[in-house]
Amino acid sequence: MEIVIAPGEAEVGERAADAVVAALAGRPEPVLGVATGSSPLSTYAALAERRLDWSRTSAFALDEYVGLPEEHEQSYHRVVDAEVTRRLGLDPARVHVPDGNAPDLEAECERYERAIRDAGGIDVQLLGIGGNGHIGFNEPASSFASRTRIKTLAPHTRRDNARFFASLEEVPVHCLTQGLGTIMDARRVVLVAIGERKAAAVAAMVEGPVSAHVPASILQHHRHATIVVDEAAAALLEGAEYYRFIQEQKHRVR
Ligand code: GLP
Repeated sequence: MEIVIAPGEAEVGERAADAVVAALAGRPEPVLGVATGSSPLSTYAALAERRLDWSRTSAFALDEYVGLPEEHEQSYHRVVDAEVTRRLGLDPARVHVPDGNAPDLEAECERYERAIRDAGGIDVQLLGIGGNGHIGFNEPASSFASRTRIKTLAPHTRRDNARFFASLEEVPVHCLTQGLGTIMDARRVVLVAIGERKAAAVAAMVEGPVSAHVPASILQHHRHATIVVDEAAAALLEGAEYYRFIQEQKHRVR
């Protein structure tokens, strides 16, 4: 894993955007994996500022709630459209979000996996991390081999996400999410974490044992994972001094 500690949220966005741009450079038909939540917003802002040509880029969202109408402002269809598609200027026809209202949800999950494969696989997957160590909606005890499927949200996640809804009861119970196996197939992953409420999950992901209890810890096995965190999210990293040293020395290798 490459660990980048940036001073604040804006710098996290700039560094994560650097990694995304590097991963997509030279790809004739780039494929970007996008995350929702507050963490990647400064990354989308940084990418939008760079005024890149996104016309040939496809995007795949990580997850979607089950049963929330597409036009609900918290549906990931709406969130991805507002925060990613419009801000970057992606072609909406090339932006994919699993359909949490499909009549046959299992068939929808298989279709989504096929769509990712047919697009040539994901070049770079942007990720946030839940306070309980989830990525996408892969909650603790998710199989490392999992593919896109139906999951039940953890009470911890529903409580965290209740801030976006009128009440906890309104937060959906089920979701569709790319699996950990799906995420691990991305050629590169860039995970962003901001704020002290992520510090314990970040430390467990980077320095704890690889365990289904902390789904993000599987990224220790990814060949090209970049973790970009601000100072507050890095606060519990025992190896922080070394990670900073690596970044300082990065351009000095001969
Ligand atoms: C959500 C999403 C994740 C996201 C996480 C953290 O529930 N499914 O993709 O990374 O929770 O959200 P935030 O960045 O707002 O803290």
